[in-house]
Amino acid sequence: MAGEQRTILRVLSGETVSPPPIWLMRQAGRYLPEYRATRATAGSFLDLCYSPEHAVEVSLQPIRRYGFDAAILFSDILVIPDALKRNVRFTEGHGPQMDPIDEGQILALETDGVIDYLKPVLETVHRLRAELPVATTLLGFCGAPWTVATYMIAGHGTPDQAPARLFAYRYPEAFAYLLSLLAEISAEYLIAQIDAGADAVQIFDSWAGVLGEREFQAYAVGPVRKMITIVKARRPRAKIIAFAKGAGYMLRSYRQQTGADAIGLDWSVPLSFAVELQKEGPVQGNLDPMRVVAGGQALSEGIDDILQHLGNGPLIFNLGHGITPQADPAHVAELVRQVRGGRG
Ligand code: CP3
Repeated sequence: MAGEQRTILRVLSGETVSPPPIWLMRQAGRYLPEYRATRATAGSFLDLCYSPEHAVEVSLQPIRRYGFDAAILFSDILVIPDALKRNVRFTEGHGPQMDPIDEGQILALETDGVIDYLKPVLETVHRLRAELPVATTLLGFCGAPWTVATYMIAGHGTPDQAPARLFAYRYPEAFAYLLSLLAEISAEYLIAQIDAGADAVQIFDSWAGVLGEREFQAYAVGPVRKMITIVKARRPRAKIIAFAKGAGYMLRSYRQQTGADAIGLDWSVPLSFAVELQKEGPVQGNLDPMRVVAGGQALSEGIDDILQHLGNGPLIFNLGHGITPQADPAHVAELVRQVRGGRG
């Protein structure tokens, strides 16, 4: 079977692959001139996400340039609130915005038609699997319920998700209902991506790190466990990476309780602890994206540290969060070369 060559799937099954396979979160994006060129012709950011032709093109760009071991579907976690009719828009310099949701609107959310609305994204997945090299893993993704909910409640990004944390204390029932609805619809969406050709999927919980212990359990662990349970019950061979940014010490129980095949590590996870986590299963990460911006010794030293600590176990090399627009594409080439065994 062609999939046997896909190194990332081997790592997700617990194998150690040396050198480790590599891809980067946000690998298709503004640091690449070819992305900016396509982006300029595609209309709005959401138009780009819903145009299979353009979305396939930008997903393939980093594969052509660097030969990464995985392509990630080009889309955004906020297509779910968009499909839930929350009037999502991305304005230059302001990040994402949408209509902030209240208690009554949560209870009135309509989930029929969401997967249908996202058909263009599923079409992108389907075309990508056909166009990618056979050895390249295709990753689908979605946001975790907590992270998606933070944007739905505030209506925009915030530094510490205070609006969502406050809302959850004030309206615990409506909030729990929102997370449960997002978990169900997101699980359906992941299943649809797998059926369209995704080899594995990643769940992004980018704001897990702002939660207290009790809240982490209720809002990060619970809903993601629910999603993974649904996906695995219906697609038993599905492979799932869960990235809970900022979860730190909680990552051990996070993997055990959610049932994720691999956990993503941000750059603040100490490598000594990462080694312990790796004894329990595959890990992905965790280079500081600022090392890629800096280049030179900051870059090579960061890579060496990760390979020394985690290179002898199941590892998918990645950044600890998305690559930033100011990263130099030449530094990314250097990163890939060094991970694959080049020196000097
Ligand atoms: O990784 C990839 O290459 C695939 C594409 C991808 C995007 N967003 C494209 C994008 C993925 C996997 C995401 C996930 C995403 N989106 C997350 C989780 C991961 C993370 O970075 O924490 C979050 C929180 C979002 C929401 C979002 N989308 C924000 C906060 C922003 C604005 C900030 C920014 O970087 O501009 C976006 C916009 C966005 N999503 C861009 C891209 C390439 C930039 C918009 C543009 O090109 O105009």
